[in-house]
Amino acid sequence: MSAAILPAGPSAIARAARLLREGQLVAFPTETVYGLGADATNEHAVAAIFAAKGRPHFNPLIVHVPGLSEAETFTKIDSRAREIAAQFWPGPLTLVLPHRGDNGLSLLASAGLDTVAIRAPAHPVAQALLRAAGRPIAAPSANRSGRVSPTEAAHVAAELGESVALILDGGRTPIGLESTVLDLSGETCALLRPGAVTLEQLTEFLGPIATPAAGPLRSPGMLPSHYAPSLPLRLNATDIHPGEALLAFGPHAPPGFAEILWLSRTGDLAEAAANLFTMLRQLDRPAFTGIAVTPIPNHGLGHAINDRLSRAATPRPG
Ligand code: TXA
Ligand code: MG
Repeated sequence: MSAAILPAGPSAIARAARLLREGQLVAFPTETVYGLGADATNEHAVAAIFAAKGRPHFNPLIVHVPGLSEAETFTKIDSRAREIAAQFWPGPLTLVLPHRGDNGLSLLASAGLDTVAIRAPAHPVAQALLRAAGRPIAAPSANRSGRVSPTEAAHVAAELGESVALILDGGRTPIGLESTVLDLSGETCALLRPGAVTLEQLTEFLGPIATPAAGPLRSPGMLPSHYAPSLPLRLNATDIHPGEALLAFGPHAPPGFAEILWLSRTGDLAEAAANLFTMLRQLDRPAFTGIAVTPIPNHGLGHAINDRLSRAATPRPG
């Protein structure tokens, strides 16, 4: 049996909130990507997320709340975090903060760590759902573990349709890449995952920010291989290989590819980010031998795009 997909109007949102309170899984749009949500205070519901995604239990989830005051129930917020939240929330920024402890949050959601990743999303459907549910919602991206994040309701149905009670359809997600993850739990701030809130923007507020290599301690989910299509991906392509499809950025593309999709013809990084995961899915077909991608500038949103591309290009273990 596969899940109902409903346009995210008021009655569907009310139904989704009810299902969440009953311990079921609901997929919903945020401005970044679709999330697979569960009541973050319900250990069984959170366990079902790990099962549905095939996600290792050591990899903690982001807890979603409507805003700063709810975040304060679960995490310790110092003046630095308060300032950053005031500037960027609601929005595509996740903060890793010290766990308050003893607050009803599922232990599994934070994988037993003494920190919690918390985010107030700006998407109106996500905001309405969080308020209607009246609970914090644990939600990873609504894809099978290690695969490309969903930017449309249909992507969720294709990968996780069997395990979710309801998919709220809010159309395509406007940003198209997962949130920036910023670790404010220690003395030095660390960018754990680049995203639409850019390193440049954060540095303006915080001064120098560490960009640590992914490691099991800093961000368990930032494995070298992630966001992966089935076909091999070749980055910074300037020539053709037989049978490949091409993802192109900017006005020029080398001729001779089996198929070309344009991330952005005008070289607009926001447009490229919004198209990236959808187009990777579109080209991920046995008709091609691989997917080549032309070079993408490594500043602003380009930093996040190149981060996802390099993980998608890294061969999976096993
Ligand atoms: O845009 C997004 O962030 C989407 C939407 C649904 O909010 N969610 C998302 O979740 O991308 P997920 O689970 O796919 O990625 C969360 C990342 C993972 O890399 C995870 O390891 C990291 O955040 N994370 C979660 N809790 C953490 C913690 N306490 N300390 C360090 N990293 C953490
Ligand atoms: Mg994910």
